[in-house]
Amino acid sequence: MLQALDLHKTYFMGKEEIHALKGITFSFETETMSAFVGPSGSGKSSLLHLLAGIDLPTKGEVHLNGKTLSGLSEAERTRVRLRQIGLVFQRFFLLPYLTAEENIELPLLEAGVKRQERKKRTRELLNLFELENRANHRPWQISGGEKQRIAIARALANNPPIILADEPTGELDEANTKRIGTILKNLAKEGKIVVLATHNLELAQQANQVILLRDGKIEKK
Ligand SMILES: Nc1ncnc2c1ncn2[C@@H]1O[C@H](COP(=O)(O)OP(=O)(O)OP(=O)(O)O)[C@@H](O)[C@H]1O
Ligand SMILES: [Mg+2]
Repeated sequence: MLQALDLHKTYFMGKEEIHALKGITFSFETETMSAFVGPSGSGKSSLLHLLAGIDLPTKGEVHLNGKTLSGLSEAERTRVRLRQIGLVFQRFFLLPYLTAEENIELPLLEAGVKRQERKKRTRELLNLFELENRANHRPWQISGGEKQRIAIARALANNPPIILADEPTGELDEANTKRIGTILKNLAKEGKIVVLATHNLELAQQANQVILLRDGKIEKK
């Protein structure tokens, strides 16, 4: 359903070339949580961005449901992402002028979900992440961990079959890290593809498979 085929990513900085990914081939299965671990700079975020289609590979392909992401137009990729992929960014990217509730609601709005259904789903997610009493706060009025939970809730809003989470517990305490791990693991059990990038080995251990990235390559499967 989701496949990385010989993915390469080179960033060009003036004359300098940074080879962030050097040939990643991997099949992501449903009902499976995969955790990518590895040193800072090993290419974890680059890989997630390619899988999400927010960036395109220099070489190689991402296949999603039999389609090559780089063969789609930008508009088509955006549509696929809205319905199929929930992406949690390492840096959250919450919209600062929206409340917690509105941030979570945004993908539902973009997908054209009716108001009543949107409100219901948003409430569900606020409850799931214990954010009910932060619903009307804006991102600068809440803690880093709360922001992180909002970012995860937003990624789940449209109930996407694929969840890509970049360091989803970087700002969380131990109890919340466990909770998020359990939530993600349960989503995998329900049949989703869950992919994590993380430095947190306790979180990684909750995954069905741990993959070590080093210098843009898979070192151990
Ligand atoms: N937009 C960019 N332009 C140039 N170089 C980049 C860009 N994004 C990432 N890189 C470089 O590519 C390499 C891989 O970066 P990436 O962010 O994928 O690593 P990472 O494994 O996610 O690291 P971390 O654990 O610190 O989040 C690094 O050397 C980084 O400096
Ligand atoms: Mg990263």
